[in-house]
Amino acid sequence: RLRRTPLAAVAAAMALGLSACSSGLAGTPESGKTLVLSLNQTEAHPSYVALTAFGERLSEATEGRWDVRVYPNETLGAQQEVIQLVSDGSVDMAVASGTQLENLNIEFAVLNLPTTFTSIDHQMQTITDEKVVGELFSSLEDEKSLTVLGGLTQGERNLYTVEGPIETPDDLAGMKVRVQESDIAIDMINAMGASATPMSFGEVYTALQSGVLDGAENNEVSYVTQNHNEVAKFVAFTRHLIGLDYMLINTDVYEGMSEEDRATFDEEWLATMAHHTELWTEETQAAIAAAEEGGSTFNEVDQDAFREALAPVVEKYLTSDEDQSLFDAIQRKAEQ
Ligand code: GCU
Repeated sequence: RLRRTPLAAVAAAMALGLSACSSGLAGTPESGKTLVLSLNQTEAHPSYVALTAFGERLSEATEGRWDVRVYPNETLGAQQEVIQLVSDGSVDMAVASGTQLENLNIEFAVLNLPTTFTSIDHQMQTITDEKVVGELFSSLEDEKSLTVLGGLTQGERNLYTVEGPIETPDDLAGMKVRVQESDIAIDMINAMGASATPMSFGEVYTALQSGVLDGAENNEVSYVTQNHNEVAKFVAFTRHLIGLDYMLINTDVYEGMSEEDRATFDEEWLATMAHHTELWTEETQAAIAAAEEGGSTFNEVDQDAFREALAPVVEKYLTSDEDQSLFDAIQRKAEQ
């Protein structure tokens, strides 16, 4: 497995920038360029598949002026580091989990609570509704030069453990469970009865294998593409969250596109979100089948007990009037 230190990631990104310049790839934003996109998933993950196809369609539709090159497997760095690289313009685009954006603007938390979305469709309809999310998605532009274009679903997140099965919050007592690096993620897993251990994505496999962790939580697709199923065989269908990955682009790069090319870019990006959602359902089923084949077991849990345990977390993060009205607007979309 290829691991990089943050410093190595910066060096790699700088080298990319330099070689892009000297080969003329960087060009002026108006004339187009090959956009460097950072992803922390493997080539087998639906996000890699959909984003690679995005690049191909974009290149064709702009007669080669714009293209996307996806760097998978955290080769440019873990999400937290790469967001900084997009902000300063050394990387053009990145996929970043909701948790990471919460650290920049806590209002993103509203889209990352256990009861925010009732389904993946509800989630996708919400994040493509400018009236609901427009302000939030442009909130990082002035200070960070980060434009949020929309996102890709993470599907339902479940809990998996080395020793199991887990059926109630009590079963998690004393277990160290990895979470993404954000306050909500920590609060959520602690509320569910475990002891939250924040850690970056790429470190989880080794930590599970070596016994530093007793478990982790993720969707079925990442559970299998990251090979976590090799080391944690008990999956509890807690369905505690329908997670979201955001697509970030450097604001100057985005705004530097000609109007015509930006319209094409937007259109292809919209199609990419739909393509990804389609792949997601298929790949989730395939991942469950592959994990079962490899000896994993999946079990239902006491949903009421977990829901009750998580209720205070939802309350804790809906404190301001803005949060509550965004949350309510999202709930109204579920009823439509
Ligand atoms: C999912 C998600 C990633 C995230 C990861 C994690 O795989 O798609 O963006 O980094 O979970 O748990 O860290």
